[in-house]
Amino acid sequence: MPELPASFRAFVVDKPAGGPFSRGVREMDPRDLPPGEVTVRVEWSGVNFKDALAAREDGRVARGYPLIPGIDLAGTVVASEDDAFPVGSAVLANGYDIGVARHGGYGELARIPSAWAVPMPAGLTAKDAMEIGTAGFTAAMSVAALEDRGLEPGAGPVLVTGASGGVGSAAIAILSARGHEVWAATGKADEHDRLRDLGASGFLAREEVTGPGRPLERERWAGAVDTVGAATLPYVLRTLRIGAAVASSGNASGAELATTVFPFILRGCALLGMDSANMAIERRRALWGRLAGDLLPRGIADGITEVTLDTLEPALDAIHAGLARGRWVVRVAAPAG
Ligand SMILES: NC(=O)c1ccc[n+]([C@@H]2O[C@H](COP(=O)([O-])OP(=O)(O)OC[C@H]3O[C@@H](n4cnc5c(N)ncnc54)[C@H](OP(=O)(O)O)[C@@H]3O)[C@@H](O)[C@H]2O)c1
Repeated sequence: MPELPASFRAFVVDKPAGGPFSRGVREMDPRDLPPGEVTVRVEWSGVNFKDALAAREDGRVARGYPLIPGIDLAGTVVASEDDAFPVGSAVLANGYDIGVARHGGYGELARIPSAWAVPMPAGLTAKDAMEIGTAGFTAAMSVAALEDRGLEPGAGPVLVTGASGGVGSAAIAILSARGHEVWAATGKADEHDRLRDLGASGFLAREEVTGPGRPLERERWAGAVDTVGAATLPYVLRTLRIGAAVASSGNASGAELATTVFPFILRGCALLGMDSANMAIERRRALWGRLAGDLLPRGIADGITEVTLDTLEPALDAIHAGLARGRWVVRVAAPAG
């Protein structure tokens, strides 16, 4: 088994008992990695809203300190106790406790249980996988859930809220490639061109999907992907067509939900909950396989900005402030030589 280096670089958030909160790059000891069968040289990670919360003192996401955040990671196996993930193989992981309750992708080394590891799907590099990341994974999960419930191309317009963000952008790309008519609700009018290139054919301003309304309004949407939560989900529910569903994954504007039961009992609508963190591993591996195939979010690379461990902080702050335009990927370590 190859020897691990004596130390590795990582972006660490810390709050010692009684001490101040801090975050920044520091050297870590591989002996402090959590238990697991698969040790990975992390080449790429991503920046997600949850990572921004994990990196803030008031984020209420980190479940212990010190913590290396990063809920996504992709790289090369450098030590393994599981023949299914041999040294030198390409691997990715997202979700479960990664980057929240145990060290995640913002370190040059990570260690995970093999039961959480996903063999890199054929056709994807580590960078491709992290350009997709948990955001693209959640978008694919949302589209698959809507289609499993009966949404078909040609059924009518499908609304994506928080459209300029990571989940929203990928959802537009996936839906449009599958032949759906996609409408984008965004607070950023200057993002229309990029979202049109991804496949959006109609736009709503944020104000049109925000605020109180009647319990039921004109039936409009054959389906919806909502990433915003409090501000927009009530609008989506009261404007879904009979029998339509919304896949709810996000709370970018808040977590509360003000609705009546009428969309459910008078229109048979469904609220489909999306939890990417706890998806069972066999389904997760299968969905990643589809992300390299029929659910590939084509075109999202144009909205990707690269950062490193040293230039990560502004990206974390921007996504927390709702300023995301596409995604950031994090170049963590050079590929194993
Ligand atoms: N359930 C899961 O498994 C899962 C997985 C991944 C992400 N998420 C959640 O999904 C949400 C989106 O994630 P993301 O990675 O796409 O984040 P993101 O890149 O920051 O995108 C969120 C988008 O929501 C919109 N937005 C932000 N603040 C808003 C506000 N106050 N009111 C209305 N719209 C607002 C903005 O888009 P516009 O300016 O275009 O409107 C923003 O770009 C987050 O809440 C995240 O925690 C959940």
